[in-house]
Amino acid sequence: MTASPSAAPRGESPAGGTFETFDEASFRQVLARFATGVVVVTGTAGDGPVGLTCQSFSSLSLDPPLVLLSTARTSRTWPRIEASGRFAVNVLGDDQRDLSERFAVSGGDKFAGVAWRQGALGNPLLDGAIAHLECDVHAVHDGGDHVIVIGRVRALEAPGLEERAPLVYFRSAYRTLAG
Ligand SMILES: Cc1cc2nc3c(=O)[nH]c(=O)nc-3n(C[C@H](O)[C@H](O)[C@H](O)COP(=O)(O)O)c2cc1C
Repeated sequence: MTASPSAAPRGESPAGGTFETFDEASFRQVLARFATGVVVVTGTAGDGPVGLTCQSFSSLSLDPPLVLLSTARTSRTWPRIEASGRFAVNVLGDDQRDLSERFAVSGGDKFAGVAWRQGALGNPLLDGAIAHLECDVHAVHDGGDHVIVIGRVRALEAPGLEERAPLVYFRSAYRTLAG
């Protein structure tokens, strides 16, 4: 597909060309062609474990060990995790779509019936995830309608890594790796 040619240009770039010659639907459709894994970001709020599904996760720095994700400003869960100062990243396996969907719903007790345990640093780790990282909140930056979260990795583990395939999200649908 091409970015919508019908949308009117909205401005001039510093170099003199036009920019934002696309609409929001085109933006979403083009970005949806970037395949990602799926993680559930978990933490502990005053009354127990909390979490939300994210695909905006990536590694950032080796030294120091940093990871990055972004959360919508509308997220009800992220501010509660941020207040605690630490979180876990649970990388989902390809048999964990149900967990991705459960943690992508705002409100309610997302942990009801979910198997988890406390990690070395006290963060909730979801059973069956193919990797776990426990992080301190290192920095939070402005990211438009999201905030950019940088986590300093304090502990990690990859249980059963050799056998498990990741859950993949591509063009608004869950996928599995073909090869
Ligand atoms: C596959 C998938 C990926 C998602 N990635 C993100 C993300 O990177 N950042 C984000 O803020 N929300 C993301 N969401 C949406 C949140 O999980 C969803 O808005 C959730 O309801 C937020 O819950 P909360 O209000 O309890 O924070 C994603 C949802 C799905 C299904």
